[in-house]
Amino acid sequence: MAFEDKIKELMEKREQARLGGGQKRIDAQHKRGKLTARERIDLLLDEGSFEEFDMFVTHRCTDFGLADKKYYSDGVVTGYGTIDGRLVYVFSQDFTVFGGSLSESYSEKICKVMDKAMKMGTPLIGINDSGGARIQEGVNSLAGYTEIFQRNILASGVIPQISAIFGPCAGGAVYSPALTDFTIMTKENSYMFVTGPKVVKTVTGEVVNEQELGGAKSHSTKSGVTHFVADNEEEGIMLIRKMISFLPQNNLEETPHISCDDPIDRPDNNLNTYIPDNPNKPYNVKEIIHSIVDYSEFLEVHQNYAPNIVVGFARFNGTSVGIVANQPNYLAGVLDINASRKAARFVRFCDAFNIPLVTLVDVPGFLPGTTQEYGGIIIHGAKLLYAFGEATVPKITIVLRKAYGGAYCVMSSKHLRGDINYAWPTSEIAVMGPKGAIEVLHNKEIKNIESDEEKEKFIVEREKEYVEKFATPYNAAKYGYIDDVIEPRHTRFRVIRALQSLATKKVLNPPKKHSNIPL
Ligand code: HXC
Repeated sequence: MAFEDKIKELMEKREQARLGGGQKRIDAQHKRGKLTARERIDLLLDEGSFEEFDMFVTHRCTDFGLADKKYYSDGVVTGYGTIDGRLVYVFSQDFTVFGGSLSESYSEKICKVMDKAMKMGTPLIGINDSGGARIQEGVNSLAGYTEIFQRNILASGVIPQISAIFGPCAGGAVYSPALTDFTIMTKENSYMFVTGPKVVKTVTGEVVNEQELGGAKSHSTKSGVTHFVADNEEEGIMLIRKMISFLPQNNLEETPHISCDDPIDRPDNNLNTYIPDNPNKPYNVKEIIHSIVDYSEFLEVHQNYAPNIVVGFARFNGTSVGIVANQPNYLAGVLDINASRKAARFVRFCDAFNIPLVTLVDVPGFLPGTTQEYGGIIIHGAKLLYAFGEATVPKITIVLRKAYGGAYCVMSSKHLRGDINYAWPTSEIAVMGPKGAIEVLHNKEIKNIESDEEKEKFIVEREKEYVEKFATPYNAAKYGYIDDVIEPRHTRFRVIRALQSLATKKVLNPPKKHSNIPL
């Protein structure tokens, strides 16, 4: 074959590969409001930066008439490229080829980019849109999935792993995204479940549709399986690019830093009067976050799940931090099972990737009741305690208002190796709230007072006494548990100074095979 013909042949093969399962299937994909695997990659990566691997791979299955039914790339597009100039590895499942189902060669392609991402120390991004195990390949497909799971596990805590779900993701296939750090689902076209509606109906009799069972709404509010919901794929992809900007390439890299023009000493006078006089009145802690971070930019994770705690990424003077904040606007910011699990996972992610933690505390305690106790609040609350206690990244804590009981201990207190612990003058740091404390301490006296009026008077007086003594930051500050009581309007400046002072922090936990977090 002449040289030009060889080039022509290459171009034709490439063209064929780019068509995936063919124009008809591409049109069907578009008709559903979905992009193709390659269109998604083009949007995700910096223009022209994508280098594809294994375009000419095909499956090896000869059963069920598949010997003659082969498509280049075999249903998954893999390779590398850059996001804002930083290297990432990527795979994108192609629903137009056998419904994006996973074959042996397909899994080898994914494993290849996973191995490369580990070797090079770069994030791995997986875009999922697949009918699961390629049924015709039987156990080879299951083996392929498990090879991916194994790599997800070994990469965990070494390189950031992000999963986008832009179509079906069912059966055991859900466990790869579940093993990664962050999952993004689109509102309309995506779903994830271990068993689909038909099996659910057969086994339990329950009638439920795909979206109710495993759509973005269910997983972002009820199960917490997905961290983000995007209105559409474009938005989801932009979210991944944004997330990457906050993250280091791997666990050996320093916290990402970008230049920042937002003045470090920009005060916010509103913060001095922001906390309501009435301790039972809620407020929105996100307003405080927006006020103190660079350019008010806050990438909230798990926005709709356990909203009584807020977690997400922001920057102080250009340095990425993870923010954890109790949210008085929802359930008074109480810690419950879901809030503890949500925050614990986030804290561990930040610690694994050298991202300092800034914790804003306003917590009345743990949520009481049988639902919580039977659900294991003891174990789940311990997760957050464990996560903060094991974290060795710089830890800055600011008590805004309440820090009561066990929840005081848990929320990155001095005793869990909090590096710099500040409190606003509005803080109340004590074993419990005044009402509960007086009931316990003066139970007998209260019972012996006959008139209701006298009883009320007695309680109010004792509560006042208690509030003056304990419901302030100064009792904790007296012992050095609070390093300073700060003026709220200078919080941004104080956090930035604290972060600067902690930039060289080095702490190692005792050597061990691995820890035994209460799972
Ligand atoms: C082989 C598959 C396939 C699969 C879909 N296709 N899923 N081929 N193996 N798992 C093929 C279809 O035959 C069809 O081929 C094309 O992909 C598009 O599928 P449609 O059914 O036409 O599309 P749609 O109506 O959109 O439905 C999509 C779907 C459905 C909901 C994903 O295809 C489906 O239910 N598939 C099976 C899902 C499943 O049970 N997978 C196994 C899960 S268990 P043609 O040629 O007709 O266009 C599992 C275990 C993993 O994954 C374990 C890991 C440890």
